[in-house]
Formats: sequence, structure tokens, C-alpha cells
Amino acid sequence: MRPMVENSSPTLVRPKLSLTAEERQYITQLAIAVKPDPKSDPEAFCSAARSAGANLPERVRESLQLFARSGSSTGTLLIEGLAVGPVPSTPVDNTYHVGETTMLARAQAMISETIGHLVAYEAEGFGRLFQDMVPTRQAAKSQTSLSSLTELELHTEQAFSALRPDYLSMACLRGDLSATTYTLTARQVGAFTPAEYLATLWRDRWMTGVDESFRVGGHDFEAGEVRGPMPILQGAPDDPFIVLDQDLMVSTTPAAKAAFETVLNVYRAYRDKHVLKPGDLLLVDNNRTVHGRSPFRPRYDGSDRFVIRAFITNDLTKSRYARPSNGRTIDARYS
Ligand SMILES: [Fe+2]
Repeated sequence: MRPMVENSSPTLVRPKLSLTAEERQYITQLAIAVKPDPKSDPEAFCSAARSAGANLPERVRESLQLFARSGSSTGTLLIEGLAVGPVPSTPVDNTYHVGETTMLARAQAMISETIGHLVAYEAEGFGRLFQDMVPTRQAAKSQTSLSSLTELELHTEQAFSALRPDYLSMACLRGDLSATTYTLTARQVGAFTPAEYLATLWRDRWMTGVDESFRVGGHDFEAGEVRGPMPILQGAPDDPFIVLDQDLMVSTTPAAKAAFETVLNVYRAYRDKHVLKPGDLLLVDNNRTVHGRSPFRPRYDGSDRFVIRAFITNDLTKSRYARPSNGRTIDARYS
């Protein structure tokens, strides 16, 4: 694939890659060869996925490498046309760990290990590399990935944590036409926020609480209960990073509150929309992009939306202190 060049630099990858039938078949063969069990031996599993990923079709590897290097114009990379095989019935909650048993999860691992390293969180999906993102009755109106009936508000994945993932990966086994994933890039925020609010976004004006669901086992957090003050935009002005959580972030001044509301207006007006369908894998750049999801109506009959989620880090060593046995799972208290 020819890279798309914008203003001569940086080189950005096209945000969508549609696999040919030949590529799909080839990737499936590679996935079949990834034998270790992600639950009992995650390290061997990730290693096998990384090795297999070295043989991904050249234009897939090229897209992934460009995305890992500089992101994309949308902050996402959609790979469509992966094989899903026989799709298991959608489980009633995320305790059955169905997704990790599928061929799609193995392809997802190869792709993930090509742009970084798979990493898991004790507080997310029981510390497994793959989490079943399915609508549950209990969480239907919550601000979690298991929700459905309410809009999942705009957020950076783990905005509060220094060990937040650099990417999230969502592989769709079963879609729902009314469930739209929304994304907004830091560049869009920079382009569409009026100047009088934009300057504030670069200042340390927000405090962020920790998601209650991260308090696994009732521990105290090593980094404290409230984080900040922090800016919403940070880094390079021509390639900014964004950290935002509509639910957990608190503005510390009236100007910050006004700027925050303006970002939400920009989000509603300019967000990109993705309706995941079976065989889609959506990579979201968690440094440059914030995301949310529309409400949708689940049936709880085994035919609901079923997405396998995984997290990717650029640097495993930075979380070594939070992974006591040097496994792949970060202890919740270090969130
Ligand atoms: Fe999320």
C-alpha cells in the first residue's frame, strides 16, 4: 500500500485497510500456527503471536508500522476482512472468556504484537489479555465497556493512569448496526476549538479521579485517589496528545470548565463514526485520540454485539514495577 503523505510530513497511514481474500486466508493460516494458550501461558502466547506477525502480508505490516510510527489522520486504523470462523454465542457477561478462544483473537494478537506489546490489567476483564466486550444487564446503564442503553461518554482509556495503554484494539465477532464507536483526535480538537478556549487546554487545569471499577480488592492506589492537575492537550503542538475523561475529570477553574464544554461540542460536531462489523479490527491510538460509543439496545439472547478487546503498550519495561511476577498483567493498585 502506498502511504498517504500530508504536508510532506509526517507520513500517515491510510485509516482503512481492506484485506483481499488471499490475505485473509494467509493471515488465518498464520493465526492457526499460534498455539500457546493466552490464559495459562500469556508470555509464550505473545511470543508466538509476535513471531507469526513477522510473516503478515507486507502491505499489512507496512500499514501497522506507519500507524505505530506516526498514527493516522483519524487516530485509528481499521483492518477489515479478517476471518471470524464459527462465531460463538454472545455470552451474558464477561466472565466466560470466550473471545480468547477464537481464531480472530489470534489474528488480533499478531497485529497487536506488530505495533507494540499486549498488556493486561487486573482491573479490566479479570487481568486477561483479551476481554469479552458484551452488553450485560447489570452494566446496561453504566459508564463501562459492558454498557449498552446509555451513551458511553468521551474518554481516554484509563485517563487517570500513567500506565494507560498506548493503543486499544477491538476485534468484532458480532456487530450491532446501532452501536457506533466514536473517535476524535487531538488534531481535530486543535483545529476546531476556538482560540480563546484552545490555550487553556494546554494548561494544568484538570483533576482526574480513578474509575471505581479499578479498586479491585479494596486496595489504596499507589498514585493516590485523585490525579493532576493535568492538561487536556500536551506534547508537540503539531502532533498533540490528548487526555480526557468526560465522566471522571473535574475542571479546576471556570475557564477550564468552559474549555472542556467546548471540546465536547467539537466532539459532537466532528467525531468520526465506526460501526464495527464481523471481521473488523479497529486500532485506536490512545495517545492522540479519545473515544466513546452510542447507546444500543441489547436482546440478551446470544445474538448481541460481541467485540474482543485487547490493550497494547509501546513499552513493557515502564510497567515492570507494577507487574510483580513480570507477567503481562498490571496490578490494579498501580493503576
Ligand atoms: Fe474505552
